[in-house]
Amino acid sequence: MPAPVLTEERSQMLHRFQDDLHRASYHFQPPAHWMNDPNGVIHWQGAYHLFYQYNPKGAWHERVHWGHAVSQDLVHWRDLPIALTPTDGGIDDGGCWSGCAVDLGDEVRLFYTGVRPQVVCTAVSSDADLRTWQKDPTPLIDAPPAGIDAGSPADFRDPYIWREDDGWYMVIGARQEGVGGLALLYRSADLQHWDYLHPLLAGDASVTEPFWPGTMWECPNFFYLDGAPVLMVSVQDKGKGELRYPAYYTGPLQDWRLIPTAAGKIDHGGAFYAPLTMKDHQGRMLMWGWLQEDRSREAQRAAAWSGIMSLPRQLFLHEDGSVGQRPVPELTTLRRDHWARGPLTLTADGPNPLAEVRGRALELALICKPAAGDILLLDLLAAPDGSERTQLRYEAETGLLTLDRSQSSLSADAGKDPMTAFVPLVDGRLTLRVFVDGSTLEIFANERICMASRVYPTDPQSEEIRLSGSGVIEQINVWKMAPIW
Ligand code: FRU
Repeated sequence: MPAPVLTEERSQMLHRFQDDLHRASYHFQPPAHWMNDPNGVIHWQGAYHLFYQYNPKGAWHERVHWGHAVSQDLVHWRDLPIALTPTDGGIDDGGCWSGCAVDLGDEVRLFYTGVRPQVVCTAVSSDADLRTWQKDPTPLIDAPPAGIDAGSPADFRDPYIWREDDGWYMVIGARQEGVGGLALLYRSADLQHWDYLHPLLAGDASVTEPFWPGTMWECPNFFYLDGAPVLMVSVQDKGKGELRYPAYYTGPLQDWRLIPTAAGKIDHGGAFYAPLTMKDHQGRMLMWGWLQEDRSREAQRAAAWSGIMSLPRQLFLHEDGSVGQRPVPELTTLRRDHWARGPLTLTADGPNPLAEVRGRALELALICKPAAGDILLLDLLAAPDGSERTQLRYEAETGLLTLDRSQSSLSADAGKDPMTAFVPLVDGRLTLRVFVDGSTLEIFANERICMASRVYPTDPQSEEIRLSGSGVIEQINVWKMAPIW
């Protein structure tokens, strides 16, 4: 296993943040300051590169740069210098917003959003470690296509590019004012000259099922899972200025228009947003998302950091055409102290099978077989006196998985809304993988439903676990997770 490498800034910050209960220890986050979307993820010359929206001045969103980290194993990351900085007076003066990376064999080209107005920009590097980038000072595409009213200023951003037999394709996130989100499709023979085709898919904000598709789509991704086309977008509510959730659509393509036959939310926890995918050298479709904070801007500034990157997730297709997700297997290399329990039957006043377990950096893997009327309760990050706890609950009768954050924190500043999703049992079983990491929770239920959320316990002793309720637990394993820095 490669030894974690510390840059100077990172080691200073580790010292500075050592008493911060909310920093992550095995999720990626920058040494300090603001981070949002993952950008330009790529496997290049033997290493994974992760770029990200970054404000080097502090923990707020302003004139964002592209931060940069590199990993051999998808688990341990090494910080590299900032990759893209806005050019004074240039086309990205207002910020280097989100985009993707394309591997051209002898070089990597970035396609990103310059602001303001929003335009498509490019930069190129042929370094072994992608440290230096040569920007093209003129935009590749400088406005939305004719006939699209993307608002004022126009929402037109986050290019995502892939190759087909007949050339290069690109989707760009946008909206049609008064109608809904758009994934605009372009084609090019040479990556330089682009022709607008039509929307790959257009959203309709008057629809509410199976989910509300919002009024603007950002960060589109297009890829194939087992040959099936998938479009993924991040749904915004322009009116309220809210980032809602990422969603996917799958179905056949007819003349390069996606005809959705299945659709769903990519994550139900409220924190996961603006995901970006890449196909790695093993052919796996990997995805990262930004885990937003759920506390006030003041609290973020006071913490001197904001934003955590999700764990890398692997995407696959279920038989019914829905998109499945699992954490990449590499993460198991972080497992340390181990507790195993089960099979056992939970009863109303029975003992807590996890009474000895403590930790704020844990993985739990649980397989249970709920019978009619059973309710499974898993308290995480719980204080010994019960004053704080985050409760994950599964009710067999409704099939609802709920993350109850009403008592997660004694701080009035922390988000407390519950997160809920319907989880169908598989062969009568609920299989959960739960990752706890400071203020971060990532939950995978039956590899179908994901919930990433943020909680901010205030008591350093809020690290107990309680398993209660009723029903048969076939197996539960808990591991302490080693830090990646
Ligand atoms: C999504 C997003 C992108 C944009 C970037 C700016 O979170 O709004 O659409 O490119 O963040 O930081």
